[in-house]
Amino acid sequence: MSPALTIRPYSEGALAQAAGKLRAGELVAFPTETVYGLGADATNKDAVAGIFAAKQRPSFNPLISHFPDRDAAARHAVFDDRADKLAAAFWPGALSLVLPKRDDSDICELTTAGLPSIAVRVPAHDMARALLRAADRPIAAPSANRSGRISPTMAGHVAASLGNAVSMILDGGPCGVGLESTVIDLTTDRVVMLRPGGITAEQIKAVLDCDIVMASADDNAPKSPGMMTSHYAPGLPVRLDATEPDANIGDEVLLAFGPECATRGFAKVLWLSKTGDDREAAANLFALLHQADQSRVKGIAVAPIPHQGLGIAINDRMKRAAAPRIPATDAD
Ligand code: TXA
Ligand code: MG
Repeated sequence: MSPALTIRPYSEGALAQAAGKLRAGELVAFPTETVYGLGADATNKDAVAGIFAAKQRPSFNPLISHFPDRDAAARHAVFDDRADKLAAAFWPGALSLVLPKRDDSDICELTTAGLPSIAVRVPAHDMARALLRAADRPIAAPSANRSGRISPTMAGHVAASLGNAVSMILDGGPCGVGLESTVIDLTTDRVVMLRPGGITAEQIKAVLDCDIVMASADDNAPKSPGMMTSHYAPGLPVRLDATEPDANIGDEVLLAFGPECATRGFAKVLWLSKTGDDREAAANLFALLHQADQSRVKGIAVAPIPHQGLGIAINDRMKRAAAPRIPATDAD
C-alpha cells in the first residue's frame, strides 16, 4: 500500500522531511522555476525505477539530474569551455546541459538510460536549491505528471496527476516559467538543441557566438536518445522472447525474469528479477545489458517479460536493443 500523500508548504521542517525521504529512496515532488519535478536519488536505481512506475512511462528516456550549483554538477559531468560559459550565463536557470558522464560518477544507469552522457541542470528556485543542498545527492527529476499529460505548474496539478504514487509534494506555489528547460547537447563539436524551452537559441548563441543546430529540424543532428530505435544497441545480437537455448546460435547469455523462467542450457544467466518484479527488473535493466554485452558469448537472449506495468517500458527498450542499427523516425 502506498502511504498517504503529504503536501507541505515551505518550512525548515518540510525541507528536512523531503530531504530525508529522498535520501531514503522515496519520491518527492518539488517546485522548480520551470515545472514541478518528480524527484528521486539519481544514484539509487530502485528509487529511479519508482519514477518510471509513478509516471507510467512506456519507455525509459534518460532523465535530467539536478544540482544546487555548477561545482556539484561537475562532480558527475565533464565541463568544457562552452559548458562553463553557458553555466556562468544561465545557471541557476532553465537550461539543461548534456555532457560526457564522468567515469567516477555513481549516478545509476537507469537515470542516464545506459548512455555515456548525462543531462545536468541547476534550477533557479530557492526551495529546489535548498532541497538539493539538504538532500546532498544528485536528484533525477522529470516533470511530475503521468506520461502523456501536461506538465504541472502547481502543487495541485501534481496531486491530481500522480496522487498516492508520490509520497510528498513540496508546495512552492505556481512555477514562474511554466515551460521545461532547454536541453543543449555539448557532447560533440557542435552545439545541438535537443529540446526547446525556457532559454532561447538566440540567448545561447549570444554567449557562445556559434551556430545552434536544431535537433528536430536538421536530419544530420543527433536526435534525443529516446528517438533512436538503436539507442544503446549492444554489440552482440539480441533475441527476444527466448524460452530455450538456440543451438544455431551457440553460447548465449540469458536475461532471465520470473520464478517460472527456464534457464537450463544457457551459457550464463543474469537475473532481471527472480521474483518477476517489474520494478526490480527496470532498476537492473541497463547495467545487466552492459554486463551481458561484455560476456564472452555469441548472443544475448531475453526471457519473455509480461507486457504490463514497467514491463511495457522494459520490452520497448529490449526491442530497440534487438533492432537493426539504424535511426528511426518514431518519437516517444
Ligand atoms: O524543466 C525541466 O527540465 C524539468 C524540471 C523538473 O527540471 N525536468 C525535465 O526533465 O523536463 P526530463 O527528465 O523529463 O527531461 C529529459 C529530457 C529529455 O528530452 C531527454 O531526452 C533529455 O532531457 N536528456 C536527458 N539525458 C540525456 C542525455 N544523456 N542525452 C541526450 N538527451 C538527454
Ligand atoms: Mg514531461
